[in-house]
Amino acid sequence: MTRVAILISGGGSNMVRLVEAMQAGGWAQPVLVASNDAQAGGLVKAAQMGVATAAIDHRPYGRDRAAFEAQLLTPILDAKPDVLCLAGFMRVLTPGFVEQFEGRMLNIHPSLLPKYPGLHTHQRAIDAGDTEAGCTVHEVTPILDDGPILGQARVPVIASDTAATLAARVLVQEHRLYPAVLERFVAGERAALMQ
Ligand code: GAR
Repeated sequence: MTRVAILISGGGSNMVRLVEAMQAGGWAQPVLVASNDAQAGGLVKAAQMGVATAAIDHRPYGRDRAAFEAQLLTPILDAKPDVLCLAGFMRVLTPGFVEQFEGRMLNIHPSLLPKYPGLHTHQRAIDAGDTEAGCTVHEVTPILDDGPILGQARVPVIASDTAATLAARVLVQEHRLYPAVLERFVAGERAALMQ
């Protein structure tokens, strides 16, 4: 059975959907949910779903990303994941970390990549006058929010949208897209799923 570890930083709503889909479908096993923040709400939810958790606070390491990642790596390697999913994990990973999971690390990003890598994606889409927004699941490479696209889902941008209302509309699609893409990925499918 494919073993999946998930990295989060916050509420973990995408993580919950991934775990639920794996537990219901039996096509993979969630073996770890890890966070850079011990207060991340998703850690409690993961534990309630019976998934092992770990928290490594990034703050003591300051700008030394590699030192933080060395600590983060310990519970990950212990869990022996085949696939690593970033789900609202808000730390930039070094190339050294990414390379260890090359071809088996996924991320969900709240924009239609290659548009709007980085932060504030929804406000940027509104400011640009875009009529469409969405989310992307992609393979992680050393370049931020780059890497082969595995799936995208689109939503309309409406005239009265704020970043918050648009984010909420996109999040509904994230919850559908990410489990669907992960299931396909585990089955060896690399063609992009366009929704
Ligand atoms: C999601 O919208 C995800 O796409 C975004 O953070 C949110 C996490 O929500 N990720 C990024 O912005 C990554 N750069 P969640 O914790 O409820 O899944």
